Amino acid sequence: MDNKKKPSRGHFTGSLGFIMAAAGSAIGLGNLWKFPYVAGISGGGLFIVFYLVFALILGIPIMLSEMAVGRNTQLNAIGAFRSINKKWSFVGVIEISCAFIILSYYSVVGGWVMKYIGSYLTGASVSDPAAFDTFVASPVQPVVWHLLFMAVAVLVVIGGVQKGIETCSKWLLPLLFVLLIGVVVRAVTLPGAFAGLRFLFVPDTSLLSDPKALINAVVLAMGQVFFSLSLGLGIAITYGSYLKKDTNITKDTCTVVGLDTLMALLSGMAIMPAVFSFGMEPTGGPGLIFKTLPAVFDSMPLGRIFGLAFFFLVFIAALTSAIALLEVVASFFIDTFHWKRRTATLVMGGIMAAIGVFASLSMGPLAGFTIGSMNLFDAMGFLTDKILMPLAALATCIFVGHIWGVGNVTSEVERCGKRFAIRRAYSFLIRWVAPVLIGIIFVMGLISN
Ligand code: PHE
Repeated sequence: MDNKKKPSRGHFTGSLGFIMAAAGSAIGLGNLWKFPYVAGISGGGLFIVFYLVFALILGIPIMLSEMAVGRNTQLNAIGAFRSINKKWSFVGVIEISCAFIILSYYSVVGGWVMKYIGSYLTGASVSDPAAFDTFVASPVQPVVWHLLFMAVAVLVVIGGVQKGIETCSKWLLPLLFVLLIGVVVRAVTLPGAFAGLRFLFVPDTSLLSDPKALINAVVLAMGQVFFSLSLGLGIAITYGSYLKKDTNITKDTCTVVGLDTLMALLSGMAIMPAVFSFGMEPTGGPGLIFKTLPAVFDSMPLGRIFGLAFFFLVFIAALTSAIALLEVVASFFIDTFHWKRRTATLVMGGIMAAIGVFASLSMGPLAGFTIGSMNLFDAMGFLTDKILMPLAALATCIFVGHIWGVGNVTSEVERCGKRFAIRRAYSFLIRWVAPVLIGIIFVMGLISN
């Protein structure tokens, strides 16, 4: 694809940096607070099997498609679609808007994580569940932490693709795995840890005789794959656009999906054994990370050290996702309006930070302001996870499968000199299977809300 802006764009030094950055964008709070709980209550080992199947048939083809579009066009999400077919620019518009909205509230949660790290470092108490509720509802503290988190993300992205995003991911992601393995070893050697592993891994065969529960588990597994890989946000397009032509994107996609899945399983093995060992109820969502786990860490020997390690790894997971979202937005202004990286990042980061302030306040002083019975924070989550992400991914499948075409994907994939060995399977999945499955996730997501 011909374009004139290539020289000024950054690029990753090689596959490793790219893989770390892309895996960092996928690995996030979903792996930590959603996967272990949802897997445990929706079939255990059976859910995990569904998850693996969907990662293979849904995750890999869609991520590979996004990467192929990005690397081929060497442009941001909107520019990429527009340069191939003007009518399809809307997909990029949805993706960039979605990244913009997500980062506005994701940064609020990132701020909470930083506040917990601060408490662990200063020796303040962290184990009172009511204190968390008071904290998030207060008008000043969570807002300040949110602004601080956004500032860190902005600083990394200002550093550029290589010096900022790649360097940060290359150091932090391995550290995340080391910390997580440390916590897993601690957790599985606690007395009674086995109950937690059973919760996570033993297949709940009663599901097989309960069609409704079975369908529910299958749909949850699909949705989780989708969210966990951050599909439909233009991240793989944007990061792919910084890839050199000789990288093997099929291999890189499989590695990223594999790392994200490994991270989900390890999180479960770090979290559930500890929760069960201390006789707590398993939960998901913010309650698990900010209420249950601090209480668990508080009651174990050396708990404050493991608590600090754990929150630091949550911070890494959140930060590497946040920088990807910010890069998606900033790259559009850099490519299209030739803004300087610093200007694009500061201006867009600033606007998202301002919106995030309202998201944070919507859990306290502005709780009375609701949209369809949800506060602003929840409404933003609903709009992005349940509507915009599936729509953009559905459009991406149709675009790549039927407009740009599998032939173009193949040429792009084969630039590395290797044959596109899974071409036939890929073609069937991206053209027919993925659109139908995403349609199902979309409809069920709306119904179940
Ligand atoms: N994929 C991330 C996770 O699993 C969540 C996420 C979604 C992050 C969208 C950024 C954007 O937690």
